[in-house]
Amino acid sequence: MLTSKQKKHIKSLLSQMTIEEKIGQLNHVAPTVIGAFDVDAMYAKLQSGEISCEQWDALCATATPYKREDMIKKGLVSSYAVVGRQETLRLQKIAVEQSRLGIPIIFSRDVIHGYRTGTPTPLAESCAWNPSLWKQTARMAAQEATSDGVTMTYSPMVDVAKDARWGRIAECAGEDTLLNAMYGKAKVEGYQNGDPSQPSSLAACAKHFAAYGFVEGGRDYNRVQISEERLREEVLPSFKACVDAGVLAIMPSFNDINGIPASVNKWLLTDVLRTEWGFGGLTISDSGAIGECVAHGVCADKKDAAKQALVAGMDMDMSSDSYIAHLKELVESGELDIEYIDRAVENVLRVKAEMGLFDDPYRLSLADENPFGKDEYRQLAKFAAIQSMVLLENDGVLPLKQTDKVAIVGKYADNNEIIKGTWSLDVRNDECVSIASGLVAKNRNCKLFADVNDAAKSDADVVVVVLGEWYLDSGEAASKTDITFSADQQSDLVVALNSGKKVVALLVNGRPMVLGEATKANAVVECWQCGVESGNAVADLLYGDADFSAKLTVTIPNATGECPCYYDRPATGRPASSFYFTSKYIDCSYEHKYCFGYGLSYTQFVYSDIAASKTNDAFVVSAKVTNVGNKSGREIVQCYYGDPVASRTRPVKKLVDFCSVTLASDESQTVSFKVPFDKLGFFVGSKYVVEQGDFVLSIGGNSNSLLQIKVKL
Ligand code: BGC
Repeated sequence: MLTSKQKKHIKSLLSQMTIEEKIGQLNHVAPTVIGAFDVDAMYAKLQSGEISCEQWDALCATATPYKREDMIKKGLVSSYAVVGRQETLRLQKIAVEQSRLGIPIIFSRDVIHGYRTGTPTPLAESCAWNPSLWKQTARMAAQEATSDGVTMTYSPMVDVAKDARWGRIAECAGEDTLLNAMYGKAKVEGYQNGDPSQPSSLAACAKHFAAYGFVEGGRDYNRVQISEERLREEVLPSFKACVDAGVLAIMPSFNDINGIPASVNKWLLTDVLRTEWGFGGLTISDSGAIGECVAHGVCADKKDAAKQALVAGMDMDMSSDSYIAHLKELVESGELDIEYIDRAVENVLRVKAEMGLFDDPYRLSLADENPFGKDEYRQLAKFAAIQSMVLLENDGVLPLKQTDKVAIVGKYADNNEIIKGTWSLDVRNDECVSIASGLVAKNRNCKLFADVNDAAKSDADVVVVVLGEWYLDSGEAASKTDITFSADQQSDLVVALNSGKKVVALLVNGRPMVLGEATKANAVVECWQCGVESGNAVADLLYGDADFSAKLTVTIPNATGECPCYYDRPATGRPASSFYFTSKYIDCSYEHKYCFGYGLSYTQFVYSDIAASKTNDAFVVSAKVTNVGNKSGREIVQCYYGDPVASRTRPVKKLVDFCSVTLASDESQTVSFKVPFDKLGFFVGSKYVVEQGDFVLSIGGNSNSLLQIKVKL
């Protein structure tokens, strides 16, 4: 909330601003962008062949620092993608002390899962089902990033994604809506820390609004056809949760939604976001996305795109130069009402005020602090990695015995880059602990083998095979038609499996993969890409110094052709079964390989005694959870509901709540969940309805193994 003094300041600024300065406040530049006017002129030369690509690159490189400073002096840069304590301070001083109105700049960065201390990718970390952890790692990222001059992160990414072909599934909290909503809320709270004006608070930007996870065929930047009902039930809630948590910015997505690109989608950016939800922050386009509306075929040229985007409710143009190049002429020719510009500028200035930039533009109190890689940060990164890795199979080979002779193989086994994961711009390879180095440091009976054949012939008792997906093979623009591990790695695996030794398969990948032969190993661990402490976390888990507790937040398919696959699928008239004429593929099991919510630990939990009661506004459902193994352990208890008869087809089950319990061996606890009636409804168009009748509530340790009880509303 702004004070009346801050509000007055914004009004006064607005009244003094020239149209160029106003448009400058709507302009985000990246380091390689050197200002629209020169870009256009040089680009024309490039296109006409007057200059070569190499000359163009050279011009950009040499012109950048001067042009950038010049633009800042003229008040033409509002937000800038650059990091570094000294550099951001230098540029901020130019903005504040040398531009006419002294409006500070936002320094933004993709701080997606840790800044310097890289933590698990979002998909990995979601498997911890732990909002307090999600918040803590966001806080740590904010502390590191702000000390390096960053003031806004383009995170959290809360695109519900159900298709593992889409590389960006690695950037979200998986296939479930509730998990993405809780993850988004926790991240916003962690970054912004309840008061975005504090020097170590990082403004958050929830992205990509909306439905980017539903791109057709899992192909990045592709079209999205989705009903309003599905959009409202599955896609929008995670963004609404971020808005409710006070997120300062929203980034609309690249894709179109039913034919209208999000960047020019008034229904989405104004009617839903502002009018329905009351969002008071800033909308910033995805990189180049406003200009791309020309290629989408809904805008005649960048001028038209600038007009349509601004009118729809897009406040800031990231790197397409459409606003800076065309808004002035649009106003002067009478094609655009200046009020649209004023509206957007006010949103930008308000967010800058909320970020405390007018009062404390230099964040000098952080100047001497250089907390990168603090011990406590490394420990948190390790804890996060431990909580994120999912044990998929174990016949008892794990935990390893201290005396086991262990051979480690695989081309990525000692690779300290792959474990960083996608979007790890500021993580340093030499600060990352590879899987092999973590294991070797843990136990001197672990030995790295360059050739799996040597390992197979050695005296090792256990072969640990690391199977990886290169870290840039998931994330943006990394869609795939084949989500199996590379052929060379698979043949290494087969050698290990045929060696007669025990085999532990460690999977180091960003997206869910098809596991193939790997499931024949004696133990299989989905290690994901868990950041700087990956190797140490694996070592602790494999030797039993820490226990597994993570559970999958995505379904793992048997084959790529099953994608998209997900647990909350709507009921069909012919549910998949062994009967021929049912909804399945004839060349693949009708059950996916591992279901949503699945994960093992070193102990076992048994569920019993489900019971339900009803209050005025909610059902209360409970079950007893008993640790029947001989070790203590943490269990993620999941609560689902189903609506077997409704006026619309409903998902066969839907996660409605979860919690975690830590139980000693033989210990039991009754866990109960309150399920408000208003959580049991669905949309008909834009109208939310809750229908009376029977519901099924269920509790269990994964989405396929549940105790059920029927209740009536
Ligand atoms: C991505 C965004 C990212 C932006 C800025 C885009 O290509 O889609 O997720 O925040 O670049 O780096």
